[in-house]
Amino acid sequence: MTEARTPIISGNWKMHKNHFEAIQAVQKLHYRLGEEESDGVVVTVHPPFTDLRSVQTLIESDRMDIVLGAQDTYWESEGAFTGEVSPTMLAKLDVAYVIVGHSERRQFFGETDEMVNRKATAVIGAGMTPIVCCGETLEEREAGQAESKVDGQVRAGLASLSAGQVGALVVAYEPIWAIGTGRTATSEDAQAMCAHIRSVVADVWSAEAAAAVRIQYGGSVKPGNIADLMTQADIDGALVGGASLNPDEFAAIVQFRQH
Ligand code: 13P
Repeated sequence: MTEARTPIISGNWKMHKNHFEAIQAVQKLHYRLGEEESDGVVVTVHPPFTDLRSVQTLIESDRMDIVLGAQDTYWESEGAFTGEVSPTMLAKLDVAYVIVGHSERRQFFGETDEMVNRKATAVIGAGMTPIVCCGETLEEREAGQAESKVDGQVRAGLASLSAGQVGALVVAYEPIWAIGTGRTATSEDAQAMCAHIRSVVADVWSAEAAAAVRIQYGGSVKPGNIADLMTQADIDGALVGGASLNPDEFAAIVQFRQH
């Protein structure tokens, strides 16, 4: 983390919590963050679609310093796409950040880099910020292919975006073998890949975009490992799964400077 980039810590709830549980969790998070609120960190929560309206209303009525996010979107703004939700619908709910290309969407729902690129482009078009996910499997890492895999995902996922657009978005590096396994990448390995992502942005877009783009690490982030991750020069935040479901744990992660 360098002070030039504002840290961003995001809670990806995945398919957990109905809208009642979501309200309770966000109230508790707000309470736990206390007077200091987010301590100079942008805090985003990404509940399931069915919770968004309830959480939006709560954040607005209590003027919370918590930013609403979504976990996915389709790329068209409307039409005959049964079951899909559009970026403009999310923007209307004051959603500000949208995760795209999470490895679970790639693995279970067949999302390709091309689809990720369409989604990222559509999110920006609707005035929101994409959190574009990338990361290698264990087999790819063991075969020495981690960098080339992530390199390809970043180039293809962000293809045709301008340098200004890339500089304003968030990339989340989430090694698949570290997701939900309790097995975090070492801070050094996470830093090395985040530095590599930044160098790809410099090569393809511009030095300014590389200096500005915020890069999160994700994969078994907990209160006990966040501080070390955040000392790394190219890690600007975290995309947190399991630990974000517990407001105490998530607040402790957000307040990493205090422990
Ligand atoms: P865990 O923090 O549960 O490993 O999940 C990481 C993740 O996939 C966040 O998007």
